[in-house]
Amino acid sequence: MTNLSVGIDKLSMYVPRYYIDMVELAKARDVDPDKYTIGIGQDAMAVPPVDQDVISMGANAASRILDDEDRDLIDQVIFATESSMDFSKAASTYLVDLLRINRNVRAYELKQACYSGTIGLLIACDYVRLHPDRKVLVVTSDIARYGLATSGEPTQGAGAMAMIVSANPRIMSIDPDTYPYAENAYDFWRPFYSDTAFVQGKYSTDLYIDVFVKTLKAFEQAQGDALEDLKALVLHLPFTKMAKKALAGYVDQDTLLESEQKARLVEGWLEYLPAETEFSRQIGNIYTGSLYLGLLSLLVHSDQLQAGDRLGLFSYGSGATGEFFTATLAEDFDHRIEAAIQLNHLASREKISIPDYEEIFNFEIASYEDKLDIPQSSQEHGYYLDYIENHQRFYNYEDTGDLLR
Ligand code: HMG
Repeated sequence: MTNLSVGIDKLSMYVPRYYIDMVELAKARDVDPDKYTIGIGQDAMAVPPVDQDVISMGANAASRILDDEDRDLIDQVIFATESSMDFSKAASTYLVDLLRINRNVRAYELKQACYSGTIGLLIACDYVRLHPDRKVLVVTSDIARYGLATSGEPTQGAGAMAMIVSANPRIMSIDPDTYPYAENAYDFWRPFYSDTAFVQGKYSTDLYIDVFVKTLKAFEQAQGDALEDLKALVLHLPFTKMAKKALAGYVDQDTLLESEQKARLVEGWLEYLPAETEFSRQIGNIYTGSLYLGLLSLLVHSDQLQAGDRLGLFSYGSGATGEFFTATLAEDFDHRIEAAIQLNHLASREKISIPDYEEIFNFEIASYEDKLDIPQSSQEHGYYLDYIENHQRFYNYEDTGDLLR
């Protein structure tokens, strides 16, 4: 059974149509723009209009890859998010309806900070290993909020990723042996009474590096110097500079491999970082989907990767958890990722001013309205939040053709 190839058959992203320019944000905050563009490594940040929440963004990402055969063969709809708006009802229940997926399906929501997209993906792979004729839809969707004029503000973002997991996947297969880690820490968290995250910034970056190194060390222990086989490493990207910091941390800290060997490996992996970080640089942190945004960005922008190449992936979730796992690119991966469609989707965004972003940020959905019509962003495509009535959310779909195919 373990010889069966299982992994990501289709992969797509959805980014909200608004963004702000990081130089303009820096000027508005009286900060040297180089701090944001070089020190943190972000050029733009996605801003979701008020009619895009995690459910509509997730539906928009998934609708771009689903066909009727998938709708029939999907046995699970897994929704990973840390921006949920309900403690009981899972976001995946909306998707079953909006995306017309067969009803004999397991639909649920997962939480563990930015790591839960990976939990979903790995659960999906295990399920398909047992049921090779079936498929699983994994959706990640988040709106990263730290607050206006906070130190976390330049590391916000928003967006969704969708993956269809199947046997004989046409993008990449995922190896069954993985290297997880967990401990109890307060680096980043969001209690139920707050709509913005609490964070200990410097500690969070140190802990990320520490967990990254621990999972790599576990891999070294289990597989010797098989890291030599990995062409590129894809890392969770809370901001793009984080990847460089993590790789430098791996060289600096004691593990089983000699530091010269590690320095050589890292030098090779660094060559892929510009391709891997390009989408995140334009979008920001999308929490649960950030690792998979980095993966898509790498596959879209790198012209050096080939079928059969092996990748390492590191998922991190504050609180704190991490997992290192490996994958192999499939024969037809460069066609399946539909690079032109992804690039077109990103290019169709519209820049908004800092005051407009602040107004959207401060928009509050009142809890006690009998009926609240959500202000619609002009020319929005695909699914959007239409109104809330009796504390229930209602979505609509606008078929304007070009963006969502
Ligand atoms: P800060 O205190 O504003 O920034 O926080 P800083 O003073 O540390 O500066 C940032 C970098 O810019 C530094 O580079 C400066 O030197 C440089 P570094 O030393 O780190 O390499 N810099 C400049 N460079 C060029 N020209 C200049 C200049 N000035 C300064 N003029 C921080 C930054 C990222 C900590 C903050 O934005 C933050 O707290 N963000 C949120 C937390 C975060 O993203 N943590 C990452 C690890 S935790 C994680 O990944 C999990 C997460 O995704 C959540 C989840 O799991 O659910 C967040």
